[in-house]
Amino acid sequence: MCGIVGIVGAEFKIDELVSDLQKLEYRGYDSAGIAYIENGRISITKTLGRIQNLKEKIKPVTSLAGIAHTRWATHGVPNDINAHPHTDCTGKIALVHNGIIENYVELKEFLLERGHKFISDTDTEVIAHLIEENYEGDLYRAVLKTVKQLNGAYAIAVMHSDHPDILVAARKGSPLVLGKAEDKVILASDVTPIIKYTKDVVFLEEGDIAILKEREYKITDSNGNLVVRKVYHINWDEAAAEKSGYKHFMIKEIKEEPEAIENALVGRITQEGPVLNELKEFDLENIEKIKLVACGTSYHAALVFKYFVEKHSDIDIEVDVASEFRYRNVHVDDKTLVIAISQSGETADTLESVRIVKKKGAKVVAISNVVGSTITRESDVTVYMNAGPEIGVAATKTYVNQLVVLYILGMSLLKRRNIWNEELENDYKFLKESPKLFRKLLESLDIDELASYYKNYNHFMYIGRGINYPTALEGALKLKEISYINATAYPAGELKHGPIALLDPTFPVFAIAPQGYLYEKIKSNIEESKARKARIIAVTNEGNEGLSKIVDDVIYVPSAPDDMYPLIMSPIIQIFAYLISDMRGYDPDKPRNLAKSVTVE
Ligand code: M6R
Repeated sequence: MCGIVGIVGAEFKIDELVSDLQKLEYRGYDSAGIAYIENGRISITKTLGRIQNLKEKIKPVTSLAGIAHTRWATHGVPNDINAHPHTDCTGKIALVHNGIIENYVELKEFLLERGHKFISDTDTEVIAHLIEENYEGDLYRAVLKTVKQLNGAYAIAVMHSDHPDILVAARKGSPLVLGKAEDKVILASDVTPIIKYTKDVVFLEEGDIAILKEREYKITDSNGNLVVRKVYHINWDEAAAEKSGYKHFMIKEIKEEPEAIENALVGRITQEGPVLNELKEFDLENIEKIKLVACGTSYHAALVFKYFVEKHSDIDIEVDVASEFRYRNVHVDDKTLVIAISQSGETADTLESVRIVKKKGAKVVAISNVVGSTITRESDVTVYMNAGPEIGVAATKTYVNQLVVLYILGMSLLKRRNIWNEELENDYKFLKESPKLFRKLLESLDIDELASYYKNYNHFMYIGRGINYPTALEGALKLKEISYINATAYPAGELKHGPIALLDPTFPVFAIAPQGYLYEKIKSNIEESKARKARIIAVTNEGNEGLSKIVDDVIYVPSAPDDMYPLIMSPIIQIFAYLISDMRGYDPDKPRNLAKSVTVE
């Protein structure tokens, strides 16, 4: 979603600010813009499309303060006019915004009556005019008054030409992070543009307003009381957020999976077995229900947890997508454990679900990759997945690490409830070995030719059964989001209840078919698909040579215990989607219409 960067302090080149904005490209956007002070006035450059276009348009000037923005359109089509920054009637105020102002129509009517002139179709422009309306010489006071009139979600950064050395920022519902370097303060939607300047950051909390100056910042709550917010140390290095010679972030991040798994396992694999210190204080022994809530890929990881833990215990486990969960009358109590999974820790629907269940008395464990993100601060405890920065919009190494962390969570929960057997011991051994197995798989995997054969098909049906069904869902999501191919996923047993009508030679089936306990069942479903003349690609385990006699193409992964196939199959579905996207001429890192961090509902 929209990305914000602001800098104030010692004079800087504005193309530096635009380069910092590029670090937020991965969040997804359709236009970009920048505002800075030039000869005592606000100067603005905006453009539809890539930040590179903006770079080509800007002048080689310096400024003491500037704000920059990538827009992901919600109100008004993507174009130069609707791009941020927006200004007031005097042109002295410039503002960037991430979020949605729900009462913008009423506010606009009020402002129109007061004589304000609007030029864009955005909800954001009302904020600039409202600040103008409330401004009496003190920008902070004007923002404080203005945000009280806004309903909805916002992260804003504001500048005023009468105060060329300050920025004012405010947040409610959308994230904002600050970092203080030697001679400047930097503000951004997430930490990626900041780590170049400092690794110590502060996350603004709901309702916070901040005044940023050259060497200092002050934060107040929504009533104007000074507050002190915790400083978090981020140990991501800048290089981790670079492509390092790879064509795309997505493939780089897939190749980083072995190391990412190692980082997720550190301290969690012990002599005594799987341990999550974060949950030491949690009464996992007496939990009666578990509810998992997440969106997209994170939801698929949650489903794997359900299949895994449910198989080995009698705990009631329910999984829901957050956008549904938050509007249901969910029954939770102090014997319910809610697990909220969010790579970014900022997904609006997941965050709201956390708030709802916490009010109802449930304990919430967050699983996230971003230290200090909103969900981690609002949950009772966080289990970090330690995948390092993921820039590609498509979740890859973070999906793998979500699975790893969820397996560890499931195993330690079972162990603490005195459920442990040979099968779980083998799962655990496999998990410990998985970085090595991933390395071997990623080094030897060669499916370029296969991807090239399939790249022009316009439809795919992904099927799986049991714990391998989420892999089918994730495979279809990966393919559709970066290749724009109509990929759909079904539990294989459901094919005959409708979707099989779609199958013909133009509609290949991608079957997740390891020799696990439902293997014979999925083989029958493969046969049913073949009978409709669909081509079949199957992923199965090494040693299952027999399957190649039935299907058109086979991809092999190392043999694994039944429970662990979702993990070892992940790179296959990711690389298949990556190759097809690249071969079709798309940029897999920046799929159209999508955002990495979905901060609006
Ligand atoms: O940051 P989150 O894990 O909460 O994001 C949820 C989804 O938006 C996300 O998993 C999305 O589906 C993936 N980027 C798709 O690859």
